[in-house]
Amino acid sequence: MINISKDQIKKLPKAELHLHIEGSLEPELMMKLAKRNNITLKYKNLSEIRAAYQFTSLQSFLDIYYEGAKVLMHEEDFFDLTWDYLLHCKDDNVVHSEIFFDPQTHTDRGIPFATVIHGLRRALDLGKKELGISSYLIMSFLRHLPEANAFKTLEQSLPFKDWIKGIGLDSSEVGHPPSKFTRVFEAARQHGFLSVAHAGEEGPPEYIWEALESLKIQRIDHGIRCLEDPKLAQHLTRKRIPLTVCPLSNVKLKVFQKLDDHNLKKLLDAGILATINSDDPAYFGGYLGENYFQCTKSLGLSMRDLKVLASNSFTASFLPPNEKAHWLKIIEHISA
Ligand code: ADE
Ligand code: ZN
Repeated sequence: MINISKDQIKKLPKAELHLHIEGSLEPELMMKLAKRNNITLKYKNLSEIRAAYQFTSLQSFLDIYYEGAKVLMHEEDFFDLTWDYLLHCKDDNVVHSEIFFDPQTHTDRGIPFATVIHGLRRALDLGKKELGISSYLIMSFLRHLPEANAFKTLEQSLPFKDWIKGIGLDSSEVGHPPSKFTRVFEAARQHGFLSVAHAGEEGPPEYIWEALESLKIQRIDHGIRCLEDPKLAQHLTRKRIPLTVCPLSNVKLKVFQKLDDHNLKKLLDAGILATINSDDPAYFGGYLGENYFQCTKSLGLSMRDLKVLASNSFTASFLPPNEKAHWLKIIEHISA
């Protein structure tokens, strides 16, 4: 039995590459913002909120996640949300984060794009200055909505282009294949955005192929179903295409029944560039450090595996080569 402590995990500098900022809205902040903004929530108190977090599928989670996001109205709300997440990063020694935000979740309620991004950006700038955490923003399109809406969002983002590293694709996967968004990803590429997409979370391996071939993405979010297609798994290994795996999320959303059944170790053994991430930590029971810790216990990961995972998080990031090299060297010198 390997005994690795939370402190050993904390010593490893880590990057987080799959985090929805709206999914870091803790019940306490949800209540506080509801009061501040005069919004009536479905829930009377914190225990009612927590009791609602029993999910049976991705959709059952998304319904509650979009409901919670309604308390975010003003720039200050987006600032508070992001700042709280950064404090968790500091606790976990997450030194770099590539953060998803879903503009349509807010603009469809009449919140201006500028309000959202100004709040996020202000917190991220302060995070760099006061906590030493670097970050990029990834703007995600909601795939249950038409491609035309994604085009409109792309248009709205252009005045803030320099603040956004890339685009992503999230929300209800099955029935909304990546190819639905081929043209908007092409347009975003022309504007210089990098790209990622959720694929193979609940959807089949064909969606992962489509995300690679039609959307021409740089890395895959989730992608855990790739092992069902040996040719695909081989392709990911050979081309070093990263997966941003979210273990606690996968268990909460019943992709795996329990963490012991998770295929993270199999992905690593297949030579795939897999990383650990928290997805929506306020809903799934743990931030990045907790994901590393629970996986270590359930999957019997060694310190060597953890060093590989932490290294993969920088290799798979959008950081420039010199910054990747800096963190990789630090990890290399931590004893196994
Ligand atoms: N939006 C927030 N979390 C998500 C997930 N795990 N899959 C798809 N869309 C999401
Ligand atoms: Zn996600």
